[in-house]
Amino acid sequence: MTPRVHLERDGEIAVIMIDNPPINAGSAAVRQGLMAAIETLRSDDTLEGAVLIGAGNTFIAGSDLREFGQPLTEPQLPSVIVAIEACGKPVVAALQGAALGGGFELALGCDARVAAPGTVVGLPEVTLGIIPGAGGTQRLPRIVGIPRAIRMICSGERVPAAAALEAGLVDQIAAGDLRSAAVAHARQLKGKKQRVRERVVPSAQSAEVDEATSAALKAGKRRPAVQAAIDAIKATAHVGFDDGLADERAVFQRLRISREAFALRHQFFAERDSAKHPSLGEATPRAVEHVAVIGAGTMGSGIAIAVLDAGYRVLLLEQDAAALERGAQRIHAHYATRVQGGKLGASAGATCEARLKTSLDWAELAQADLVIEAVFEELGVKQQVFQRIDAVARPGAVLASNTSYLDLDAIAAATSRPQDVIGLHFFSPANVMKLMEVVRGQASAPDALATGLALGKRLKKLPVLTGNAFGFIGNRLYAAYRRQCEFMVEEGAWPEQVDAALQAFGFAMGPFAVADLSGLDIAWRMRQAQAATRDPQARYVHIPDRLCEAGRLGRKTGAGYYGYPEGSKGPQVDEAVHELIAFCRAEKGVVPRSLSDDEIVRRVLLAIVNEAALLLAEGVAERATDVDVVLVNGYGFPRWEGGPVFWARERGAAALQDDMLWLAGLCGPGFVAGDLHHLLTTEN
Ligand code: NAI
Repeated sequence: MTPRVHLERDGEIAVIMIDNPPINAGSAAVRQGLMAAIETLRSDDTLEGAVLIGAGNTFIAGSDLREFGQPLTEPQLPSVIVAIEACGKPVVAALQGAALGGGFELALGCDARVAAPGTVVGLPEVTLGIIPGAGGTQRLPRIVGIPRAIRMICSGERVPAAAALEAGLVDQIAAGDLRSAAVAHARQLKGKKQRVRERVVPSAQSAEVDEATSAALKAGKRRPAVQAAIDAIKATAHVGFDDGLADERAVFQRLRISREAFALRHQFFAERDSAKHPSLGEATPRAVEHVAVIGAGTMGSGIAIAVLDAGYRVLLLEQDAAALERGAQRIHAHYATRVQGGKLGASAGATCEARLKTSLDWAELAQADLVIEAVFEELGVKQQVFQRIDAVARPGAVLASNTSYLDLDAIAAATSRPQDVIGLHFFSPANVMKLMEVVRGQASAPDALATGLALGKRLKKLPVLTGNAFGFIGNRLYAAYRRQCEFMVEEGAWPEQVDAALQAFGFAMGPFAVADLSGLDIAWRMRQAQAATRDPQARYVHIPDRLCEAGRLGRKTGAGYYGYPEGSKGPQVDEAVHELIAFCRAEKGVVPRSLSDDEIVRRVLLAIVNEAALLLAEGVAERATDVDVVLVNGYGFPRWEGGPVFWARERGAAALQDDMLWLAGLCGPGFVAGDLHHLLTTEN
């Protein structure tokens, strides 16, 4: 095993360097190295203290998550921390970059913490379905009190250095060189141990504790790790430190092999790898500093905000002066609200806005390294816009379309440089939603696509590469999902039952409430456009068309799958909808039956899994795990369920084949079965 920890000497202070690139993740080799170094510190009389520091530009930014699914090798982290506490000499943690999870627990086991400006600290274990397992739940409340510990651990909050200093989580911010500051701090502590374990915990009985508990449970509903973390934190008030540690470890050991933890780790790795695509080879992204956004509507202004937030200069271009003014106002109002709400400093807001230029002059596009088009969803309009872009954009600029459904190749064909054309499909609101599809046209150059993926990362989004097919990955999966829900309504479920069952499973919203929110007319127009080419044998549910014909286009018309009477807070069950559905069923001779919530959830999952298998076979999705990234980050699929592919793999081939036969029977003619074997066995 390569040594991952080196010990250097600075006079009587040992500098213990953790060197496990790229993020100095805690691993068996790191723990072994730390244990050996602490033993040297203890037994060497010429050493009087130590500094723990990370090589490179970070402390320990997390743990090697692959270890969590297997039996843990010795020494485990709690033993390393016990050794630090028992060594008789002060140990100072020198923090930079990120000190997260086990890394921050290690730091809390030291006698003091010195941080470089820009450091973030936190215990995000709950977001991975576990709780801190090396004393985090026991030491943190001894520093910040129980309410703050609940808030911090249950949300996985990352606390910046200045706030950490204020809260007492770090003792000093290093003005200059971190290592020298930490060594000096260790010298000051010579002969002293100041262990967090000896501090007294304030009471668990207070209104603030109750408030923090209920807020954490509300935000973390259906996540068992949240309750477990709260219990462990509250125990600090009445259980001795060593018993508290032992109890915490037992819960950690139980949770790390729980279904939720496996699912969340799966999602973590799928997201981590989403922007890495072996099919792009060694392609390096093109340099981008200046971005032009065409169209200042809903999407264009949201995209402009996302790009401004990431530090780019932005040119917002329109054909219509009034639309441009509205877009500019929307962007300004957005920053004003964030500044007023304290979410953004006034000068940071002003800096973002200062990078924006609005214009009606197409010649200005010549400065852009990347052009993102977000005009009306009509092929003719987009082709015309791309012709105009082609005429002025500099050679090598990447030209992107935000189209949701149109054929990217047909758009690229309007230019003389289809190799530079890609799709960048943002989701609404574009400055909020994490998901971004990067669409590969037939001629898209690998480095143009790599530019799209790199932009996504810089925008702190999750970019997923998709082939150029109707609806790409996300909207294709969602169409299969919605179609299945419509089938179930036709068979006997009410929309509100379908929505409630899926929300209880963990979806952020049910599909019919979502449809009402986004409006039923877009899909209606699309169905009308596709009517001539539809497979006449395939099952077709008329209910959504009938709703639209009745003027029920969703929230904006005060009625859709639900009613929205004046003054109502949200969707209201509407008898008129029941009557309309009953009429449609009768028209088709369907005798309604009752569907269980379990059937509803299972059919939705199977329909998505089947569509995912089709997308993989067609090469639209390159990796099965991308489907999970798309569903969780773009469509409200519950993260702690891992995603539909995780679910399918967990269910296993035999059960899934039986399920799919059952689903095919229920769906009737037109059901196209995907290749499940490939979905289940492909490497990722
Ligand atoms: P929108 O109607 O709000 O905005 C479109 C803007 O483009 C208008 O301000 C219009 O003046 C401008 N425009 C139209 N033709 C133009 C031209 N020739 N030159 C310059 N500007 C022109 O539309 P929205 O919702 O922002 O959609 C834009 C694109 O984003 C569409 O392709 C849509 O499919 C796609 N999209 C929309 C999503 C949504 O939820 N609204 C989600 C994802 C993609």
